[in-house]
Amino acid sequence: MNPPRPLEPKRAELESMTRAVADFVVDQVATLDGQPSFDLDDADALRASFREPTPQAGSSLESLLEHLRPAIAKSYNTAGPGYLAYVPGGGVYAAALAELVAAATNRYVGVTQPAPVLAQIEETAGRWLCDLMGLPDGARGLLTSGGSLSNFGAIVTARHERLGEAIQGGTLYFSEETHHCVAKAARLAGFPRSALRALPTDGRFRLQADALEAAIAADRAAGLHPFLVVANAGTTNTGAIDPLPEVLDVARANGLWAHADAAYGGFFRLAEGGEAILRGLEEYDSITLDPHKGLFMPYGLGALLVRDGAALARAHHESADYVQDVTDEGSLGFADLSPELSRDFRGLRLWLPIKLHGIGAFREQLTEKLALARWAYEELRQDERFEVMDPPQLSVVAFRLRAPAYAAERLGPELLRRVNDRRRVFLSSTRLRGRYALRLCVLSFRTHEDRVRDAVTALREEARALLG
Ligand SMILES: Cc1ncc(COP(=O)(O)O)c(C=O)c1O
Repeated sequence: MNPPRPLEPKRAELESMTRAVADFVVDQVATLDGQPSFDLDDADALRASFREPTPQAGSSLESLLEHLRPAIAKSYNTAGPGYLAYVPGGGVYAAALAELVAAATNRYVGVTQPAPVLAQIEETAGRWLCDLMGLPDGARGLLTSGGSLSNFGAIVTARHERLGEAIQGGTLYFSEETHHCVAKAARLAGFPRSALRALPTDGRFRLQADALEAAIAADRAAGLHPFLVVANAGTTNTGAIDPLPEVLDVARANGLWAHADAAYGGFFRLAEGGEAILRGLEEYDSITLDPHKGLFMPYGLGALLVRDGAALARAHHESADYVQDVTDEGSLGFADLSPELSRDFRGLRLWLPIKLHGIGAFREQLTEKLALARWAYEELRQDERFEVMDPPQLSVVAFRLRAPAYAAERLGPELLRRVNDRRRVFLSSTRLRGRYALRLCVLSFRTHEDRVRDAVTALREEARALLG
């Protein structure tokens, strides 16, 4: 049996290990264009082979990487250009390099004092996000692990600012198209399902300001305490944008905190025409963004922006004797703004790619994605076999086969299966107003016209095969 390997490799070994990993990942990334859009063939057997007891002895890194190679291949290829399902992003490579630097140097950034310059890097990256969204000085951008945690932080902050400790009877409002993580976060923040109001949407899947106003008034009359509205700046289903200015007016008139879930859509503010599309977003009390969606970062990078940055600290700050050496009241660290104490140095994952590429590179990509979605919409709209739901408000196209109701529930999934089985693109489905629908979401920076064209061609050919 091999002996355990020492935990501290010598310099030469550090170099050879790093080279082996570099070769491995470059091989993964440089071949993405030719890889299948998904491959789960025999994944169960491979999965079973990874159920094993804790190893007592060590192995060579090369052998472990080779072991890993097929495990990575057996997956939806979420990094590849054909991934048009759910909400893609792709994973900018520079962010992976940043992660290696952050983890290898392993500095502590949860509070400011132990690594003040690194904490500043992360704070600067958060400030950039505030600037990109048009928020004023005094706003604060906190990096999280994703949109769900950002929405949770927003609800906790709104709860603290509007209800204090008296949360009983607090009610919150959002549309029925809102991402389910909002309801989950509300429950985690202490609000029962009976406090949640999922309001019906208009013909374009948007929250209606008058319905919001009426729901707030009815709850007030019943002695409840409306405190928060969550507006969508791009729903997951169709990319719908709630009427942000009108919803904000209702919130302001009624003293509610206005939060925008812009996890999917917010970064389109950078695209050509994006500020007009997302007009009003810059006025919200808080905004959820997901750099692992619209800034194409690898999974695990979300953001919560709060207009009055101090509100985050009021909602989250606690202290303890054992942190007295590193507690500086004048400079609140990330641990004072969120549930986390120890955390990764995620700021570098945002800072490095933006410094390396410049924000203009991201703007171009986002502009292209809007155009590609509009192109796909027009193509599908002109094909009588498809019922296209709504012109894309952002980069999602939702559609279904024009088939009799009794057949549509069977033919829709069959169309999805056939298109995905070609392995050039990967789409996903949803239900709109209770009916099965397919959706195509263009958001990976690796997705360009050729791949969207492939998706449309596959949809048309398979629709013809199914419907005649
Ligand atoms: C609009 C919206 N909000 C929130 C989320 C949840 O984000 P995350 O998966 O990063 O937790 C998503 C994810 O797709 C989303 O599309």
